[in-house]
Amino acid sequence: MPIYNVYNNIDILNNNIIAEKSGKKAENVILFESVDSTNNYIKQNFKSLSYGTVVIAENQTAGKGRLGRSFLSFNNSGIYMSVYLKALESSEASLKITAAAAVVISEAIEKCAKKSPQIKWVNDLILENRKICGILCEGIVSPESARLEGIVLGIGINVYKPENDFSDEIKDIAGYIAEKPCENLRNDIVAEILKGLDDLDLENNSVLEEYRERSCVLGKEILVLKNGESKKAKALEIDENFHLKVLYSDGLEESLSFGEVSIRV
Ligand code: BTN
Repeated sequence: MPIYNVYNNIDILNNNIIAEKSGKKAENVILFESVDSTNNYIKQNFKSLSYGTVVIAENQTAGKGRLGRSFLSFNNSGIYMSVYLKALESSEASLKITAAAAVVISEAIEKCAKKSPQIKWVNDLILENRKICGILCEGIVSPESARLEGIVLGIGINVYKPENDFSDEIKDIAGYIAEKPCENLRNDIVAEILKGLDDLDLENNSVLEEYRERSCVLGKEILVLKNGESKKAKALEIDENFHLKVLYSDGLEESLSFGEVSIRV
């Protein structure tokens, strides 16, 4: 049952609207007022869920980010969603899905909110120099079979400026799509993302091309943060596996498949 809120009473997340707009079955769109983490919900309940199921929450009490970080939720302002996907054979699947999801989410935001986010390798969406979206892809390994049973694609988007703004700590790095709630914007974005994921063809080169076009790191001086160290480099190329090729100031080149980069050097 959606809770109406004075701050945002025109864009209440609604699983029936999302199912209708995305073409999903209503039972495959699960909405919570609050949950610890939508990724955790899928990991704990995958046996009773079918592939394609999406879990969305107005609020997460223990949202998770990459590299063991936490991910903050802002009630009635964001989108916190996880999609249960079939496992792919390739060992690079998680990177590919994360990168392709970044393209799908950017397109959804562009279509629904008329804003064009850029992609900061590998999983952050940036708007006006601030992060508006993060993606966390996790494998689900069954304890009984020790097999990879599926993948959880977790997506967190700051849609609106939070009612009490961001804390001073993150004010300079966290952004949002719109200052004030707009009618059905969050429902529309979720539905567009789901349609985009359904249509996604990871073998199609256009995803890679669009990823490169939207990249805000290519050709730039960056900081590579890896294994607790940070090193200055130039971002040279994103290859067909979405690895980022960088050139360090000492002349060495590296093809990165994990880690994080920063453009504030
Ligand atoms: C990152 O920026 O490091 C990734 C953030 C991913 C956050 C989303 S919110 C929905 C899903 N549930 C989680 O606990 N995390 C992901």
